[in-house]
Amino acid sequence: METPIRSRETLSLTLFSLLFFICKSSPLHHLLISNAERRIDLSSHIVKVYLTLKIENAGSTPASEVLLAFPPAQVDHLATVEALATKGKRKKTTLVHLEVKPTELPDAPNDAKYFTIYLASPLNSGESTTLEVLYMLTHSLEPFPAEIAQSESQLVFYRDNALILLPYHVRQQTTFIKTPSNKVESFTRVEPTNRAGTEIKYGPYEDRPPYSFSPILVHFENNSPFAVVEELVREVEISHWGNLQVTEQYTLVHAGARHKGVFSRVDYQSRPSLNGVSSFRYLLARLPPRVHSVYYRDEIGNISSSHLRTDSRKSELEIEPRYPLFGGWKATFVIGYGLPLQDFLFESSNDKRYLNFTFGCPLLETVVDKLTFKVVLPEGSKDPSAVVPFPVEQHLETKYSYLDVVGRTVVVLEKKNVVPVHNTHFQVYYTFKPIFMLAEPMMLASAFFLFFVACVAYLHIDLSIRK
Ligand SMILES: *[C@@H]1O[C@H](CO)[C@@H](O)[C@H](O)[C@H]1NC(C)=O
Ligand SMILES: *[C@@H]1O[C@H](CO)[C@@H](O)[C@H](O)[C@H]1NC(C)=O
Repeated sequence: METPIRSRETLSLTLFSLLFFICKSSPLHHLLISNAERRIDLSSHIVKVYLTLKIENAGSTPASEVLLAFPPAQVDHLATVEALATKGKRKKTTLVHLEVKPTELPDAPNDAKYFTIYLASPLNSGESTTLEVLYMLTHSLEPFPAEIAQSESQLVFYRDNALILLPYHVRQQTTFIKTPSNKVESFTRVEPTNRAGTEIKYGPYEDRPPYSFSPILVHFENNSPFAVVEELVREVEISHWGNLQVTEQYTLVHAGARHKGVFSRVDYQSRPSLNGVSSFRYLLARLPPRVHSVYYRDEIGNISSSHLRTDSRKSELEIEPRYPLFGGWKATFVIGYGLPLQDFLFESSNDKRYLNFTFGCPLLETVVDKLTFKVVLPEGSKDPSAVVPFPVEQHLETKYSYLDVVGRTVVVLEKKNVVPVHNTHFQVYYTFKPIFMLAEPMMLASAFFLFFVACVAYLHIDLSIRK
């Protein structure tokens, strides 16, 4: 904003004061970061970044918003951005969640994309506060080499900025990058840079202007399972007769370096740690406690190699596809289970019923490119509405199953780029008249009655023909 003002001296007074007003009111110009620390965790295929920002209001007016900037290439892979503020003094501090929203700003340098953090209370002139920010990136580790043989370890590239991209002046900052093992092939140096064990330290850097950028590339070993569910369709069907039936259809892919050459099962089975380090064989699904009638099948049929462990808080289902997954290989399968309805269906104060269930994917440390969550309400349900703690696309569908007259309303929720932090509770509210509970038995009774009448009629006709 300042450069155009400086370069054109003949601006009229009105335009000048207008620009001055914008500068004053925008959250950009009177904040500065006195200290920033960033920790980038590269130990799995989901990149987790923790930022601690000490923010100071150097302006004369109170500030209520703080901006975060991301390069456009990162924004496309951004799965979540969360911000927390510490509240209270010294010993009695608690963390409070702050609202974070994507924001469009004109004239963003290098097409930077913004998120605004809304502070719980305005930061007065001269005051400072500390914010904790967590964001996660998916599909941000590029396998290099892109193809590896069965016995090879997987190496990946991670690209970022040695400096924290911020629209503010940063007095002092440090970045720590954690790699999964000691095996780091190379990393860009931006002095001071140090590596010790599984940690690379960039900084401390002093007094960097807004939007400072210094690209870095880290090349390292990462054999964690690159488990990506390209598509997951979860369907939860509510039956007021006491059961919740869950069906989950997975299209799973190993998104790491592609497998090259032939696969030797003999080598794999004799020494899986040497012959197939980059592959994965087992997946762990965390299901609610009290699951029953669990099945796991693929297009061929039931797969018996799954183990279910349950305790009072959770159930864990260990599943094993028919073959280990190497880079680029896919597996499609279905998991189904039943749950007791009273654990998930409740009555709200306004005479509505609601389902309280977990969003996201039950498989641990997995990215879901596209998740479709369908909640099938009982026949006769009205006014459905969903409450989800993050933006999702919503629409309604109708599903027919046997004995249905008008069909069942299905609330469909869709979200792209889902990571484990999205495994949070959400609710679907609806109204239901208990009289509809009688619809199914009535249908059954009338079906039996009609069948009975038909039999009687048939017997009568049959007899009359024989005569
Ligand atoms: C598959 O497993 C389910 C549940 O265990 C069982 O009811 C069904 O009969 C099995 N089907 C086959 C083809 O084995
Ligand atoms: C949903 O269930 C969770 C876990 O049992 C609970 O913490 C939360 O308060 C419930 N939400 C509602 C709206 O009932």
